[in-house]
Amino acid sequence: MLKKFYIKTFGCQMNEYDSDKISDLMQSVNFVRSETLEDVDCIIFNTCHIREKATEKVYSDIGKIKKLNRSKKKPIFVLAGCIAQAQGEEIFKRTNYVDIVVGPQSYHRLPEQIKNFAERKENFSDTNFELIEKFDTLDNLKSSRKSKTSEFLTIQEGCDKFCSFCVVPYTRGAEFSRSFNSIINEAKKLSDNGVREIVLLGQNVSAYKFIDGNKTYKLANLIDEISKINSIYRIRFTTSHPNDMDQELIEAFKYQKKLMPQLHLPIQSGSNKILKLMNRKHTREYYLDLIARFKEANSEIKFSSDFIIGFPGEEEQDFQDTLDIINKVNFINSYSFIYSQRPGTPAVDRDQILLDICKDRLMKLQTLLGDIQINNSKKLIGKKVEVLVENKTKTVGQFFGRSKFMHSIFFNSENSNPGDLVDIEITSYNSKNLFGILQKEEVLV
Ligand code: SAH
Ligand code: SF4
Ligand code: F3S
Repeated sequence: MLKKFYIKTFGCQMNEYDSDKISDLMQSVNFVRSETLEDVDCIIFNTCHIREKATEKVYSDIGKIKKLNRSKKKPIFVLAGCIAQAQGEEIFKRTNYVDIVVGPQSYHRLPEQIKNFAERKENFSDTNFELIEKFDTLDNLKSSRKSKTSEFLTIQEGCDKFCSFCVVPYTRGAEFSRSFNSIINEAKKLSDNGVREIVLLGQNVSAYKFIDGNKTYKLANLIDEISKINSIYRIRFTTSHPNDMDQELIEAFKYQKKLMPQLHLPIQSGSNKILKLMNRKHTREYYLDLIARFKEANSEIKFSSDFIIGFPGEEEQDFQDTLDIINKVNFINSYSFIYSQRPGTPAVDRDQILLDICKDRLMKLQTLLGDIQINNSKKLIGKKVEVLVENKTKTVGQFFGRSKFMHSIFFNSENSNPGDLVDIEITSYNSKNLFGILQKEEVLV
């Protein structure tokens, strides 16, 4: 008999990708995915540990579910992802609602773990790093999921950079690159399922390096090979570290028309002093020079970034340096966070900046980012923009898609289909989105 499972994803795109794979694994052992919690036999939380708030949210959601389900038969509860890796068996002490703890590099064994738990009712924690085994299992997995127009494809996992604020090197382990062929096979499968845009994923995607005999494959080689798949129109990759960008990758933005001219390249801070304290191993000058090299390869390219505000040691001048670099690069679509102390990371015991100062700086920084975004949108009014259609919205006659630069665009059209590349004239904007109308193709007589 079919059983029902519910999965909730917290955190980054890597977790979204993993949750889809976990769903395929569950479906391979006769579980069907449910969009609600009602009468489910298994609940899976795929969790994030990046900031304290992310971790607290997971525990608070577990508390809510526990309350809701009090009078019913308890479903098997699986805690997967980065909290699982960071806290392991400690989780059983914090909440008695969790039955199985499974890390991001061993979730391919989940069907077996669920079966064992159902038989023995013994809590179980698996936080081994089994990347080769994991990807081998996933390569042979069938998927009955309907693909979206744009899909993620994990090519690399883990991180060797050890920025002093970050848990990722501990939760995801050392850098590991998947085999070139298995990535290309997955890209082909995606295109056969109607996918038109592939977003190559990794905690440090630009560190991708796979050695096969005497051949070494890098990210630029992957982009070249995926570009040969006719029905893939667009390629992106995320997230990159400034220190891993090689000349081949920079040049790819010049000659590879399917590679979108948009790059997420986190800098975290514009101050050399803070970058050093963060152990980022690059300076602001190096970063600005890198941006110039990308622009030389492709003058159209736009950049986005992540910023951490209030890192221990950040003085007003350091903050001003961050605002200065934002003005210089003109970032769009960026993310900013107040520094959060993470257990086990080198910066955890350093003197903290007062929360009020952090909040004030964050507000100023987000206002600047917002102003730049609006200016950028303003310039697009009346312009024709190429959009890859992703879906129909709930509003009659309205569709959603993205520009080359990842702008979210809502447009009116009588009939568009996910996967279409269409021209949209931009008519208005708000702080996050652009709005427009479909340009009809001219009929030649
Ligand atoms: N690999 C990527 C980012 C991974 S985490 C990179 O190197 O940039 C995503 C973002 O979360 C980071 O870019 C950083 O801005 C933020 N982040 C990570 N640890 C944090 C912490 N302790 N406090 C606040 N933000 C953090
Ligand atoms: Fe974290 Fe730094 Fe690695 Fe990015 S590069 S995942 S911020 S340690
Ligand atoms: Fe969070 Fe883990 Fe991603 S900590 S940001 S889910 S790599």
